[in-house]
Amino acid sequence: MGKSTLSLALLVMLAVLGGCGDKTASTGAAGESTASAGSSETCSLVSTKDNSPLAIKAVATDTPEAKEFLATCMNPYTKKYAADAEAAKAGRKVMTLNGCTGCHGGNLGGLMAPSLVKNGGTGAFDTKWVYAKNATDKGMFETISNGTPGTSGGVMSIWHNQLPGHVGDGLTTDDILKAIGYIRTVYQGDGEKTWLK
Ligand code: HEC
Repeated sequence: MGKSTLSLALLVMLAVLGGCGDKTASTGAAGESTASAGSSETCSLVSTKDNSPLAIKAVATDTPEAKEFLATCMNPYTKKYAADAEAAKAGRKVMTLNGCTGCHGGNLGGLMAPSLVKNGGTGAFDTKWVYAKNATDKGMFETISNGTPGTSGGVMSIWHNQLPGHVGDGLTTDDILKAIGYIRTVYQGDGEKTWLK
């Protein structure tokens, strides 16, 4: 390749790169206007398996609590259930109806799956979360929604009804938030209750 051909090639490349820059800028602006037009999910959820983004969107049938979580990453049921044991029964119901208790135990103290109470059994995961991110409601939502890679020796399936491969009919955003709110009420482990801050 001659010197002039090379500089011509460089010029073409620069022109193409410049064009790309413009496109990115306009896509960004379009994205912002879509967000302000209604879809308000700003909580960026990622998979507990590989950190890839989870495509979970607000849908028309979502409760105000589900919409609030997708916008803020905060689970409104956690504080509500901590203060109201009667209300927390709705979260327990999600877990018994969907068979969570079949693996995690009727009192969530662990069975063929790790304890969610974390009150000091003999297993490696009886006092600590298998996945440290589960100390936040966002992290636990990601774990339940898209399942796990199997660090404790068993794998948990995909539960969110918007994610491919989910169990049966799957669970809604609201169902999963209620289950988490309930799980927080049974915790007795030695870590701080970070989710109540
Ligand atoms: C078929 C058995 C099974 C069922 C049903 C099941 N799980 Fe699990 N779950 C597991 C296993 C096994 C793990 C550990 C996964 C790992 O180590 O990767 C786990 C892990 C978890 C964790 C993380 C625990 C930690 O210490 O980090 C949470 C939270 C959880 N499950 C909640 C639920 C909820 C809520 C349901 C019902 C919607 C449910 N599970 C249903 C088997 C199950």
